[in-house]
Amino acid sequence: MSQPLSLKLPPLSLYIHIPWCVQKCPYCDFNSHGQKGQVLPESEYVSHLLDDLTEDAKLVGDRAIHSIFIGGGTPSLFSAQAIQTLLDGVKKRVNLLVDAEITMEANPGTVESQRFADYVKAGITRISIGVQSFQPEKLAALGRIHDENQALNAVKLAKNIDLNSFNLDLMHGLPKQSLEDAMFDLNSAITQQPPHLSWYQLTIEPNTQFHSKPPKLPEDELLWDIQERGDELLKQAGFEQYEISAYSQVGQQCQHNLNYWRFGDYLGIGCGAHGKITLANKNQIVRTVKVKHPKGYMDLTRSYMSDKKVVPSEDLPFEFFMNRFRLLEPCPKSDYSDFTGLAMDDGTKKNLQIALNRGLLVESADEWRVTQLGRRYLNTLLEMMV
Ligand SMILES: C[S@@+](CC[C@H](N)C(=O)[O-])C[C@H]1O[C@@H](n2cnc3c(N)ncnc32)[C@H](O)[C@@H]1O
Ligand code: SF4
Repeated sequence: MSQPLSLKLPPLSLYIHIPWCVQKCPYCDFNSHGQKGQVLPESEYVSHLLDDLTEDAKLVGDRAIHSIFIGGGTPSLFSAQAIQTLLDGVKKRVNLLVDAEITMEANPGTVESQRFADYVKAGITRISIGVQSFQPEKLAALGRIHDENQALNAVKLAKNIDLNSFNLDLMHGLPKQSLEDAMFDLNSAITQQPPHLSWYQLTIEPNTQFHSKPPKLPEDELLWDIQERGDELLKQAGFEQYEISAYSQVGQQCQHNLNYWRFGDYLGIGCGAHGKITLANKNQIVRTVKVKHPKGYMDLTRSYMSDKKVVPSEDLPFEFFMNRFRLLEPCPKSDYSDFTGLAMDDGTKKNLQIALNRGLLVESADEWRVTQLGRRYLNTLLEMMV
């Protein structure tokens, strides 16, 4: 086993989970519940989130928070007033940097102009819009509550308010999708000139409607053509790919997600939220998970924490590389010992050497970098690091 070294504190961010949506999409395995026409317990939930943060804040003291991501679920179901109370409460409990990136996810079926402007007044600096597709039959197949005009309207609203940035989420590899369909979606997104684009390949997840009743998806060869042609199109349009599914204009990467992939620390508050915190004084990294279901989470007789454990040192090499090798930027070798607290053991050295020999990685004295081949066979590369 490798020798423990002193852990350094990586940058810290905060994830906040809002667990409700208008209705559940058939492909989605996120921790979200259809609203079923009910009025959401908005102010009650915000007050629980803040109590949850009061507890978590003890783990981080006055460490600076560099970014916040309010995800879900559909956070845009919450009023601007609720988001304002939430962010004001966050600022009272932790040391939020004044220029922190604060992202909120929004569903095009739940936005209107005054609300968008008020989110910005509340402190939101970046909005992530779940467009998924610009084709009506694809949106219907995905069970989305919005149509393509609502998607375009949401983008227009995002452009007209004082945001630092915004993102569009698109998916590909959709039921009955052709290469032309996928390129139509990408071209429609590019025309809107978003600073950031997340372009995910649809995956069929256990415990979803699509898993129990699988739709017919494009064959592997077509999926590969979509990926290659899409990458080319985005490159020509000036987007830089910096992670498997993330593309941005210059300087517009999502700081919050970058911190995850660089093996940074994050607090996670809200139903089912995960956190990862380095405790330098104990030379430990802990992972936290909050109570998943809203009923249990808001039960005053229970703790918000459902699981908190120290990451065993034998798990750290894989956890580090699994995140780090998703990024296309080179990985400084010093980050490995700084943020895992481990000297490189013989097994990890051997795994890296195999990946280098197979052309999945290249290295210099100070850095590793995933090659084009490594990107194509990322799962193989990651499996090698176990
Ligand atoms: C947490 S979801 C939330 C965004 C927001 N609730 C919405 O759907 O508009 C973030 C993104 O993950 C992507 N996503 C969700 N389920 C997926 C799946 N099974 N395969 C690929 N991408 C998925 C979608 O693009 C989605 O916008
Ligand atoms: S709106 Fe987003 S989070 Fe909600 S069910 Fe659909 S994909 Fe999942």
